[in-house]
Amino acid sequence: MTTERLTTELDDILRAGDIIRRGGLVAFPTETVYGLGANALDAEAVRSIYAAKGRPSDNPMIVHIAEKEDLEPLIRGGLASLSQDAQKAMDAFWPGPLTIIFSKSEEVPDATTGGLDTVAVRMPSNRAAYMLIAASLRPIAAPSANISGRPSPTTADDVLEDMDGRIDAIIMGEQCDVGIESTVLDLTGEVPTILRPGIITREELSEALGREVVYYNGLLEKPAETADPEDGVAETSFKPKSPGMKYRHYSPKARVILIEGNTEEFREKAKAIGIEAIHNGGKPAVLDYRGDERRAAHDLFADLREFDRQGYDLILIRTLEEEGLGFSVMNRMLKSAGYDVE
Ligand code: TXA
Ligand code: MG
Repeated sequence: MTTERLTTELDDILRAGDIIRRGGLVAFPTETVYGLGANALDAEAVRSIYAAKGRPSDNPMIVHIAEKEDLEPLIRGGLASLSQDAQKAMDAFWPGPLTIIFSKSEEVPDATTGGLDTVAVRMPSNRAAYMLIAASLRPIAAPSANISGRPSPTTADDVLEDMDGRIDAIIMGEQCDVGIESTVLDLTGEVPTILRPGIITREELSEALGREVVYYNGLLEKPAETADPEDGVAETSFKPKSPGMKYRHYSPKARVILIEGNTEEFREKAKAIGIEAIHNGGKPAVLDYRGDERRAAHDLFADLREFDRQGYDLILIRTLEEEGLGFSVMNRMLKSAGYDVE
């Protein structure tokens, strides 16, 4: 299949909307990372996303909508059933990088939710994403547009690196503003719980909801046993709330090691590990965001992919403080390093 390159101009977006309506796959920019979209209400179209990504089919997808009214048919009880928490979270952060978990309606196929009775919904703020959803007249199921297990794509070229020839079209937009995936907030339980941290932080959510929002346990810890997403085998002892937690993620080809410490300690340790690697014929790279969380979020996935392209086989990354946005970036860094911290 030839992957059509489309622009963010109206004619091209309308064409992309046609492709979605006909059951095809279109990659598109959002403010977080590029998504790989299909009609969320078409089980067959959604299954072709799993195939293109090489993704285990029990991993549920986020459904992207353009307007608040688009929620009505997706959630159990419709808009009238929305909780205070949901109203407040949506008012404060939609459109934007916040995904909310609701009880699902009958209309959402099991293929989209991985058989769960809940559905994850998000209203992106990116203009091209908004226009695509509006043009397709469908809610769009979209995981990140990478081969399963690879770092999420934050540029159109990163998407093409993984998906060229595997999908119908791509909307070639700008580099993503945020650079890490949306915050996933579960509002189906007693306590509002963050299943995946993102740029909208726990503190901001607690403030908007007027009560304490908690992190799901173990977001910075190594799962008991991690499955390789390529062979689609889920590990057994770890029963996560969000199925995406149990697979290896964000891995470049290179080995990644995280290094703690102040600037000087980081340099010393990176130098020692780097010299050792060079002696053994390796090609190490060093990455220090100097505590700039915003930049780390924006650049991390792009940097990992760039180091791969340049043939580095070891990437030494300085850790961030595990607070606010730093917590969210550390969640990605730890996964990409297989929890290897020096
Ligand atoms: O920023 C984003 O969220 C991007 C862009 C494209 O919107 N999308 C994205 O999708 O990151 P994906 O499929 O790579 O990650 C979806 C996450 C996974 O961790 C999945 O387990 C969780 O959301 N998720 C989806 N539906 C869920 C549900 N019903 N209950 C719990 N977790 C769910
Ligand atoms: Mg993903």
